[in-house]
Amino acid sequence: MDFDEIIPRKGTNCVKHDALQQFFGSDDLLPMWVADMDFRSPDFVMEALRRRCEHEVLGYPTAPDSYWHAVIDWLWRHYHITALRDELHFIPGIVAGIAFVLQAMTHPGDGILVTTPVYPPFLTLPKNGQRQLVCSPLKVVDGRFAIDFDDFEWRARQSRWLVLSNPHNPGGTVWDKETLSRIADICYRNNVNVISDEIHADMTLPPHQHISFSTVSDNARNISITFIAPSKTFNIAGLGSSVCYCPNEQLRQRFFGYLDGYGLAGGDIFAYVGAEAAYSHGEEWLQQLLAYLKGNVECLRTFLAERLPQVKAVLPEASYLAWLDFSAMGLDHEEIRSRLLQRAHVALNDGTTFGGNDYRGCFRINLGCPRATLLEALERIASCF
Ligand SMILES: Cc1ncc(COP(=O)(O)O)c(C=O)c1O
Repeated sequence: MDFDEIIPRKGTNCVKHDALQQFFGSDDLLPMWVADMDFRSPDFVMEALRRRCEHEVLGYPTAPDSYWHAVIDWLWRHYHITALRDELHFIPGIVAGIAFVLQAMTHPGDGILVTTPVYPPFLTLPKNGQRQLVCSPLKVVDGRFAIDFDDFEWRARQSRWLVLSNPHNPGGTVWDKETLSRIADICYRNNVNVISDEIHADMTLPPHQHISFSTVSDNARNISITFIAPSKTFNIAGLGSSVCYCPNEQLRQRFFGYLDGYGLAGGDIFAYVGAEAAYSHGEEWLQQLLAYLKGNVECLRTFLAERLPQVKAVLPEASYLAWLDFSAMGLDHEEIRSRLLQRAHVALNDGTTFGGNDYRGCFRINLGCPRATLLEALERIASCF
């Protein structure tokens, strides 16, 4: 795999490169923001999609048994989840899946707990559904995010569901077993159910190890709905293919009943074909991707130490998103933002969208790109401070 290859994406109607004007007010930016990678999607996925296109009837698809076997096998091999077919449901996307859980399983005014900073839709979905957003701020301890359990427990008492990014976005912190068990105990004691969004889990960078929330205890298994997807892992987010795992029968009946009752959870032809190919043939490709991403994380770490020591980073233990805190530079947020956009011409995600004014001075950078692109972005950033 040649992850160094620079593939022009502008003009392919992709959000990362083609929506810069809409989101940043300029087209002339190096896009280091939205979470997809600038790498070629794997050849075994492309080949499966091409093969399917040779049959020129694109009527309604079903999810074949071979698709479900590939999903079940992946869950077992990677996470020691023993999922039965009935405990799984196709979901077109995880943001949609979270919205469906909130609609199906909660009422207006119910407290929805999240740990901030966090992936922005975790904040907007509850608010858009008139649920009460309950935020428990994370602390940065030794360069990684950590839960403040006193605060978390107090807020859990005001909540009905927790939406957990496991691993965490932004910053890629991998939650260890002790942390997840503690979250499970607190949630169980306070009648809080858990959505564990594990979209970034496959890309956990060795030696870190992803622990799926549902596997830490019987209580965790019983109170949770887990989302996984091949979309980030294999750079196929445009296929809209995710899976939900719900071992608790009561939760399942209610949630899967809602999905089926409202016709919300079918995939298109390519969603099933692409995901099956990815899960069936993806091991070697994934190992090579992880090695490359580790190199990019190292490149960022070294660059910051040598050239931008005032920038404090949470570097990813999983996936390719890093959290950069520029506040020690003594500039205000708007000044940093304007230098990044107007002088460096680099598009990063604004930290305040991950949880408000507490994150002024912070920005998220996407490392899922050829190393030369990353270095170009870092040089440009360094030159404007
Ligand atoms: C934690 C997390 N959940 C969900 C998503 C998006 O998932 P989907 O594209 O399946 O809606 C992202 C994308 O960045 C993410 O980081």
